[in-house]
Amino acid sequence: AQSIPDILSAEFAADPYPVYRALREHAPLLWHEPTKSYVVSRYEDVARVFKDKESVFTTDNYDWQLEPVHGRTILQLSGREHAVRRALVAPAFRGSELQETFLPVIRRNSRELVDAFRDRGSADLVAEYATRFPVHVIADMLGLDKADHARFHGWYTNVIAFLGNLAGDPEVTAAGERTRVEFTEYMLPIIQRRRAEPGDDLLSRLCAAEVDGVRMSDEDIKAFCSLLLAAGGETTDKAIASIFANLLAHPEQLAAVRADRSLIDRAFVETLRWTPPVHMIMRQTAAEVELAGGTVPAGATITCLIGSANRDGARYRDPDRFDLFRDDLTTTTAFSAAADHLAFALGRHFCVGALLARAEVETGVNDLLDALPDLRFADGFAPEERGVFTRGPQTLPVVFTPVGR
Ligand code: HEM
Repeated sequence: AQSIPDILSAEFAADPYPVYRALREHAPLLWHEPTKSYVVSRYEDVARVFKDKESVFTTDNYDWQLEPVHGRTILQLSGREHAVRRALVAPAFRGSELQETFLPVIRRNSRELVDAFRDRGSADLVAEYATRFPVHVIADMLGLDKADHARFHGWYTNVIAFLGNLAGDPEVTAAGERTRVEFTEYMLPIIQRRRAEPGDDLLSRLCAAEVDGVRMSDEDIKAFCSLLLAAGGETTDKAIASIFANLLAHPEQLAAVRADRSLIDRAFVETLRWTPPVHMIMRQTAAEVELAGGTVPAGATITCLIGSANRDGARYRDPDRFDLFRDDLTTTTAFSAAADHLAFALGRHFCVGALLARAEVETGVNDLLDALPDLRFADGFAPEERGVFTRGPQTLPVVFTPVGR
């Protein structure tokens, strides 16, 4: 294992996939001193930690990872408390609430962004579309003032910088902690107003939600909204950037999707497998456990390498190939985004926003393909992924022939 580059090295950040392969083959359970965690990289092991059939892999690590910036979120909860909280929030992100109430919000926000550059002939799909669209959708779903979208976007930037602050930059930490204070001061009066005068927005639904006599406090709702910035913003942002990077880099697959839009779901699922937005997730052990051929003590942190599991040759044929036509991938249905790739995790914390993410990606791909007929990379550009915990292209300069509306 000595010769395998470190998961925090520059070499890894530039291209983690050869490192993942080496870990799966030679060090499937690796003690990693800098993160003080046991690293697991094989599909089977990562899936087992997420499914947690034995109830040993907790999310207690989120108390120190998420608490300082978000407060106590659904991700920190377990057992019945988690199940009830999940039942309180989940209905807003699926079924008729998603289709009838929030799909129009998604469409409106996508089109506004596309309209800003469709006549120009060139754009950066990351800066002008992907990093804005999901955050605008969340702000609009919550029913926040349009005038506040820019502030909301600023908080989003601070929160994701805080969560990705591997180097421990004190300014980034301070900005994250300040954001928690500002966000709380901003949200609490709005939540109180919605309790008094409910509307049709997500905040009003969260205020009204009740399961087994349990309702969410103002602080619970605020923490959930704060989590949405990272959980629903950065992830979907990177998924959109990556689906375009992947399709534009594989023009024959792009042409197939352009001709048959029902293939967008396959492109979405294969993008999440091949280039997942979230590469690493941590868990904590409640008891000693045998894992990946070794023993992990109680109270240990485990780093689950989603980006590696998704490219495990034991699970996927020809795993390093982007192929939306592959036959060993489960696609999404209208009612479930249940997947076999691990980009949404598995088990009780499986992404509650998976169908919302899918609706955003589907809308985004359709809108951009409709508005930009011969969309391609700007001359000489080749996309590069960046990031360690989360990954995606940082820029996607494209050109196209502008056509009248
Ligand atoms: C949970 C990924 C979009 C809200 C998760 C988890 C992953 C994930 C990996 C599990 C975390 C863990 O187990 O520690 C993604 C990806 C997305 C996406 C890749 C986009 C492609 C969204 C959206 C929302 C959202 C749009 C907005 C509603 C959540 C929430 C949880 C979660 C609230 C916590 C669920 C729980 O604890 O029960 N997501 N997510 N996600 N996601 Fe997403």
